[in-house]
Amino acid sequence: MLENDVSAPAMNTTIYLKEYQVPDFLISQVDLEFVLSPDNTRVKSRLKVTRNGAHDRALTLCGEKLTLISVAINDESVAADAYEQTDMSLKLPAVPNEFELVIETEIAPQQNTELSGLYRSSGNYCTQCEAEGFRRITYFLDRPDVLAEYRVRIVAPKAACPVLLSNGNPVAQGDGPDGLHWAQWHDPHPKPSYLFALVAGDLQFIEDQFTTMSGRDVALKIYTQSAYINKCAHAMASLKRSMAWDERVYGREYDLDIYNIVAVDDFNMGAMENKGLNVFNTKYVLADTDTATDADYEAVESVIAHEYFHNWSGNRVTCRDWFQLSLKEGFTVFRDQEYSADLGSRAVKRIQDVQVLRAFQFKEDSGPMAHPIRPDSYQEINNFYTATVYQKGAEVIRMLHRLLGADAFRRGTDLYFADFDGQAVTTEDFVHALERASGVDLTQFRRWYSQAGTPIIKVEQHFGDGVLTLSLQQSCPDTPGQTDKLPFHMPIEVALFSPDGKKLVAQTLSFNQAEQQFRFDNLACKPVVSVLRYFSAPVKLEYKQSNADRLHLIKYEDDGFVRWESMQQLCLAMIQPALTTGELDPRAYQRVRDAFEALMTDPNPSDKAVLAEMLTLPPAAYIAELASRVDPAAISAVRDRCIERLAKDLEKYFHALYADNNTALDTDAQSLAARRMLKNRALFYLVETGQTAYYALASHQYHAASNMTDRLAAFTALVQSHYPDRDALISDFYETWQHEPLVLDKWFAIQAMRPSSEALREVEDLLHHSDFTLTNPNRVRSVLGAFSGNLAGFHRLDGKGYALLVDYVIKLDQINPQIAARLVSSLNSWRRFTEPYASRMRTELARLNMVSQLSSDVREVVSKALS
Ligand code: PHE
Ligand code: ZN
Repeated sequence: MLENDVSAPAMNTTIYLKEYQVPDFLISQVDLEFVLSPDNTRVKSRLKVTRNGAHDRALTLCGEKLTLISVAINDESVAADAYEQTDMSLKLPAVPNEFELVIETEIAPQQNTELSGLYRSSGNYCTQCEAEGFRRITYFLDRPDVLAEYRVRIVAPKAACPVLLSNGNPVAQGDGPDGLHWAQWHDPHPKPSYLFALVAGDLQFIEDQFTTMSGRDVALKIYTQSAYINKCAHAMASLKRSMAWDERVYGREYDLDIYNIVAVDDFNMGAMENKGLNVFNTKYVLADTDTATDADYEAVESVIAHEYFHNWSGNRVTCRDWFQLSLKEGFTVFRDQEYSADLGSRAVKRIQDVQVLRAFQFKEDSGPMAHPIRPDSYQEINNFYTATVYQKGAEVIRMLHRLLGADAFRRGTDLYFADFDGQAVTTEDFVHALERASGVDLTQFRRWYSQAGTPIIKVEQHFGDGVLTLSLQQSCPDTPGQTDKLPFHMPIEVALFSPDGKKLVAQTLSFNQAEQQFRFDNLACKPVVSVLRYFSAPVKLEYKQSNADRLHLIKYEDDGFVRWESMQQLCLAMIQPALTTGELDPRAYQRVRDAFEALMTDPNPSDKAVLAEMLTLPPAAYIAELASRVDPAAISAVRDRCIERLAKDLEKYFHALYADNNTALDTDAQSLAARRMLKNRALFYLVETGQTAYYALASHQYHAASNMTDRLAAFTALVQSHYPDRDALISDFYETWQHEPLVLDKWFAIQAMRPSSEALREVEDLLHHSDFTLTNPNRVRSVLGAFSGNLAGFHRLDGKGYALLVDYVIKLDQINPQIAARLVSSLNSWRRFTEPYASRMRTELARLNMVSQLSSDVREVVSKALS
């Protein structure tokens, strides 16, 4: 035990998958009436309840932060001594087997800063019910396996709330007395409470329509406040593309007459797939060339698609319990990834998805919160919307897709949707459907759902007498509560290349043992082996590949992922030894330098966006993830030195690359974006030379830019360099964009990510800036989230970065516990750091743990981090 250890001040209760029980009661019909008002909204709920099975247990409903007004069973009022109320539940003993329950409650949306349940954002009403927000609206069986048909009536002042929306189709609307008006909605599809939504306020909309494959017309609307309404066109176009793609690729058609999307400023996550009424963070709807970068456009496209795809993978077929979250999230992320890959450059999409997986999921898997994609237990479900459930979940579906092949996979998903439509099911139901449709035995594959940790694959090759033998070995590190893991079943994509660059063989190896050998016969000479093409499994590869082989693959592979990965390996071979020696090995450096030069002088680069990725050193976070002990100062110093040397040594090539791509020769948007990406990569290196001429070039680009991609790239490069006019530039950006919240978020984040020990002082100033607020999650993420990911700025010998974060976590926990808990997790990996960082991180976690009034969200993270 470490010195100032203390026992946790409070305990959370843990919920276990193995204790799942079917609900004691079911609810088939829900009638809700809302009379909206900021401080006392009345909610009247009329439920049709039936006992589920033969038992005499009480009916216990969930409810939090509710003021109970009245309860009635079959129109007879229930006296207060006939029910038991706690701050989390309402218990009705001895209810009939079938009855109508009417409950009236009062809530205060204006006071709801957690942004869960019914809350206000920029004066408008909206809801967020996943995972357990509905219980903050009314008493209910707030669990995903209770599915009901909803009718909703909303009453509100017409002047303040001209728009009244809920799930499903509009039924009626009219005016009432005293300036009130009302609207009624009906959702014919039975749904769990987490998919309920209500929106009311002064909103504008844009409108379009889509004709489904069976010829039904669907009205599409995107609502937002009037200031943003001219930025919704890209989201609308994305929605129509998504609808067509899901018909073509999965045979899935939309099932209501209207599809509404609402974009709000204050939202804990990216977006929410409520049936027929998606609610979005503005970040994933609004886009125009003036304010959004190419990356923002892509993010909007993928999140719009993601939420649309949930209509089938999530809504029509939903989760039995929250342990099954990856059933809808892993599958839907896989679907949106493939959608984006089909739309743009498949290789770049794969590279970027792998980068996200490595940066966030691998880190989670090696820390105190590691869990399988189907967790066995949780304390606070909000903490389990993780990179593991989402991104690794998607990788697991991707492996199934590869092992079965596209056709059998499609037969499997058809069977899954047909068999489980309208039901709340498990990941086992999904895997079993694929098994039945394909005939492939997935018994061993199922371990991906129950075992946590990132498998490590060792690869060795032996060549002789025309035979290549590939030996694969797998192991998986222990994770909290799990040791001695069994081998996984995974597809390993392999190709062999001849010395003159011809692809001789390409094959999927079905790897399912601790150790396995694969033979390739009749080879004329020793081939160059490419392993884990397309990143076919979410693993770490330990492969002592020669640098010559890496260069060969950079030159000849047709898989962009492997070309990029080979370049990353060359870079790591330069960076990693220097972390301990403090010296760059001249030959390792020269290899990277020459490879960069070769790439930049290639007259016909196959994909400019892949090239831009290949000219990027591995991110500091990934270098940290691969290190046995993380020395943040060493990582930043080595990485910075490499960048500076490459920038200076290759200046003329970067300059040429910049010039060649600083023109608008391409006609399609995708090639133009790839060109911008490459040009801005070159600009970054040019600015890193520290030469006045390049500061001027970047400054010119900043001022002359016709789009946010170019403007922001120049701004970022300058702000994160030693540019002498840095302060003036920061002021200029602020003056120009202060009225655009999403652009201002970028302004905050770029400063908070400044790779220097100066970042702390700047972040302290930003936290006191008049535009900073703890009540807007995007703003919190752009300052505190960005800062906690800043390896050079956040990790200081004096530990002041950690202390600042914890100070704000304590404040934020009173306002928004979900966001507070996410910020704490940046300290989770403290054990992996060198001293004094590890002790300083632990000290701050211990200080946080001493706070007596912590939310269950933060309590779970901090107690697991310290355990
Ligand atoms: N289900 C949402 C999505 O993926 C994410 C979300 C979870 C939003 C919880 C809000 C709250 O797509
Ligand atoms: Zn989702």
